[in-house]
Amino acid sequence: MCGIVGCVGHGVDVQETLLDGLASLEYRGYDSAGIATAGETLSVVKRAGELDALVAALEDRDAPLDGPAGVGHTRWSTHGPPSDANAHPHTDEAGRVAVVHNGIIENYQSLRDELEAAGVTFASDTDTEVVSHLLGRHLDEGTTLEAAFRETVARLEGSYALAAVARGADTVVATRSDSPLVLGVGEDATFFASDVPAFLEHTREVVYLEDGQFATLQPAGWTVTDADGSPVDAEVTTVAWDPEQTGKSGYDHFMLKEIHEQPTALRQCLSGRVDELAGEITVAELDALDSFGSVQLVACGTSYHAALYGATLLQQQGIPAQAALANEYATAPAPRRADTLVVGVTQSGETADTLRALREARGRGATTLAVTNVVDSTAARECDHALYIRAGPEIGVAATKTFSSQLIALNLLADRMATSAYRTPRDLVAALRDLPGQVQTVLDDSRAASVVDEYLDRTAYFFVGRTYHHPVALEGALKFKEITYEHAEGFAAGELKHGPLALVTADTPVFAVVTGTDEAAQKTIGNVKEVEARDAPVVAVTDGQSDVARYADHVLTIPESHPRTAPVLANVQLQLVAYHVADRMGRSIDKPRNLAKSVTVE
Ligand code: G6P
Repeated sequence: MCGIVGCVGHGVDVQETLLDGLASLEYRGYDSAGIATAGETLSVVKRAGELDALVAALEDRDAPLDGPAGVGHTRWSTHGPPSDANAHPHTDEAGRVAVVHNGIIENYQSLRDELEAAGVTFASDTDTEVVSHLLGRHLDEGTTLEAAFRETVARLEGSYALAAVARGADTVVATRSDSPLVLGVGEDATFFASDVPAFLEHTREVVYLEDGQFATLQPAGWTVTDADGSPVDAEVTTVAWDPEQTGKSGYDHFMLKEIHEQPTALRQCLSGRVDELAGEITVAELDALDSFGSVQLVACGTSYHAALYGATLLQQQGIPAQAALANEYATAPAPRRADTLVVGVTQSGETADTLRALREARGRGATTLAVTNVVDSTAARECDHALYIRAGPEIGVAATKTFSSQLIALNLLADRMATSAYRTPRDLVAALRDLPGQVQTVLDDSRAASVVDEYLDRTAYFFVGRTYHHPVALEGALKFKEITYEHAEGFAAGELKHGPLALVTADTPVFAVVTGTDEAAQKTIGNVKEVEARDAPVVAVTDGQSDVARYADHVLTIPESHPRTAPVLANVQLQLVAYHVADRMGRSIDKPRNLAKSVTVE
């Protein structure tokens, strides 16, 4: 994982640009950070810990780092613990080159053995350091930085987005294989990063590098070449994201900002896709999608919960569907009928486990669809089809608005995949239209902040729900444990009595999601009575249609809506529950310990 960033040009303050870029990439890892600048000289400063430690170290210096070319890195540790020595950039013994890397060099041990046998002394435990020594040795042979970089990369196996600078060159060289890397084309400078927000305040003109392509950035301009060194006519596209969207806009945390952005995100997801007058859903991206007899959804983390919801939705529509954890699917793909569509649900479009599962599916001849937030992400480009959820940039490590948008995008997909006899129900169209406003009502009226005050420091927290609310229970618990570090579990409500009930005591609050009055609601109320009888405090998340409030200690209310949209509303309450508990406990909400937003290792 990790985030890399770089820039070249006389028109920007290189040190400041790198630090700003790293600040917006910290969601990718925050175990250490470092930068290097190059021109006539090469300077490297790096520190263990969050970006603040690097900023403090730079402030202690007499002058900013010098040189028109620079690279930076924020780390999520894979090889070696967080430390100054393991922080990137890594240099060769002569201190002539500096390298930043996101990914894993799988053959690093044999390369390290070879280099050590040749007398090289390593300064870190990382896989990346082999790259800097190899690069230094190729430069010793008298070649240019570009040629030396190309020869070095030819020795590497694994996944990488790599960039390097060298003393005596006003140049950044970069390449990628199975890790994201995008160039930003500005007027006075050229940028690159693992993700667009890192340079969005400078430019919205971008070039998505393909696997195996090389980029050379110099003050005079940039070039892209293919693996053989032939120039590539790289396409420059304009991203729609606005720099404003990547700031905190006055909120204490990105997570809270993103929770509050949900009405807008949902409107964006639905815009131009739901025609209320005609009572129709049309998604241009899905026009070319064939019909399929069954669907497999693969995903990780929060996106997996959206996939579970999507599978239930498709099943209710009469389409055989199942959700699988991408990391499990990758090594043991579920049996597939000839007419199976494999859907990768992935906010970032870069999650290694999900990409691997999709590649596995494609290798077996399946048609693939990416449901993703990031335009031109690896998943979007590699799949046969892409459905964009249009949630806008999400910076908080804990996914919030993108989950809501995934649920709604999956509704659009399910509608598109239904049989020819199917007509979109009018009440669903109306519910989708009303949803953004209803989410706003939940945000305006939520009592989550006061309710949670009674439930700090309990032994465990449980979340239960049925059918469409089962994924919400799982997601409620995941969000809670991610950012509070407290033990939280989500269960299918009916499963409580088959084991988890043994854990339920007066010290374990149970959050129960109950909407409507159907059989699922009635049965969940039965489960609520079971936990109430064990003295557990109950917080009901409900639209008030049933009498679940009679058995609850507290109620978090949501507006009445459609069974398919109610999970979005209930989940907003649970997002706020997790947020406010974590806030009261003083947790690192946007950057929870040990986690990262975009996990580009398997
Ligand atoms: C990481 C993040 C989760 C996210 C998961 C899948 O584990 O911490 O928040 O849900 O990756 O990410 P994706 O980008 O594929 O949705």
